Amino acid sequence: MLLWRKYDFPIDWSQEFKQDAELHLEVGFGDGRYTAFRAQQEPQNNFVALEISGSSLYRALKRMKNAQLTNVKLLKVAANFAVQNFFTEKSLSSIVVNFPDPWPKEKHEKNRLLQDSFFRLAAARIKPGGEIRLATDHKKYLDFARAQSQLSGLFELEDKEVPAAVFETKYALKWKKEGKPLYYQVFKYNGKKSDFYPIIERSKEMPHSILEGEMPPKFKFDKQVVKHGDGHVVLHEVAKSFDYNNETLERYLVRVSIDEPDLNQQLLVVIRRKSGNEFLVRLASFGDPIITKTARGAIHAVTEWMLTLPSDLKVKERNY
Ligand SMILES: C[S@@+](CC[C@H](N)C(=O)[O-])C[C@H]1O[C@@H](n2cnc3c(N)ncnc32)[C@H](O)[C@@H]1O
Repeated sequence: MLLWRKYDFPIDWSQEFKQDAELHLEVGFGDGRYTAFRAQQEPQNNFVALEISGSSLYRALKRMKNAQLTNVKLLKVAANFAVQNFFTEKSLSSIVVNFPDPWPKEKHEKNRLLQDSFFRLAAARIKPGGEIRLATDHKKYLDFARAQSQLSGLFELEDKEVPAAVFETKYALKWKKEGKPLYYQVFKYNGKKSDFYPIIERSKEMPHSILEGEMPPKFKFDKQVVKHGDGHVVLHEVAKSFDYNNETLERYLVRVSIDEPDLNQQLLVVIRRKSGNEFLVRLASFGDPIITKTARGAIHAVTEWMLTLPSDLKVKERNY
């Protein structure tokens, strides 16, 4: 498993694998059955596989460990963020998507992975001639993905033989048993230039501010949503630390979520008495924050909220 939050982006995959080799990406590996099978069958290739479900990740990790595979890295992260930030231009040979969540209702189509925006992003990271390979039991998803792939003019539809392992995944076996038809489609990247997808801007320094004055002994807090950068910050609640009788340990924890188009983070902002009547407001390392512009906005939002309190607080320093 690769703890991607600790890495510089894009990730230097040549450092992570024991061999310099073609790089293949799988999105939504589920229990990892297909991933393990392919990695065993193709020891000459490297595989990066993504999943957002923690329980799936745990099961797949055990599978990789038992099989002693060194050419697979599993990551807990959503596809769009990973494709944009972890890979360089022309670095991927293929992206495999086996049985993506179908989002069958029309109003949920926007949640489907294989839509125009993903095809464009993928083309900015796949090699010319590289492929996106879809397996699905959902005819509407297949038709949707085919139509979406044609909007950008970057992919050709190719009919290829279905690799055996594709219809041996947990979901494929279940649906085969139920007698459902299964579909397979290859989208081949024609090498035309896609849009530019920059790597996310990220700072290494923990953002902070310093306020002078006293926190009021009691205050009311209402949930707040503040727009910042490309996303928004939600201040959910404030808790006071149990050590509050000890002046030097006076601390408040603000639970925040930071929502950006492809990244959602649940973090804590700490307000801590620094010395005398100074309070330091900083992002806690809890949750391994990715310090984006919107994440820095969390310090701004908390600082501005503190200024609305019935007290004499004033900003001494803003460093975010
Ligand atoms: C229907 S399951 C298929 C699992 C596996 N490929 C198989 O065939 O057995 C879809 C999987 O995709 C994962 N998933 C959904 N959206 C994702 C995303 N944006 N990035 C990575 N994984 C995702 C889900 O958690 C789920 O495990």
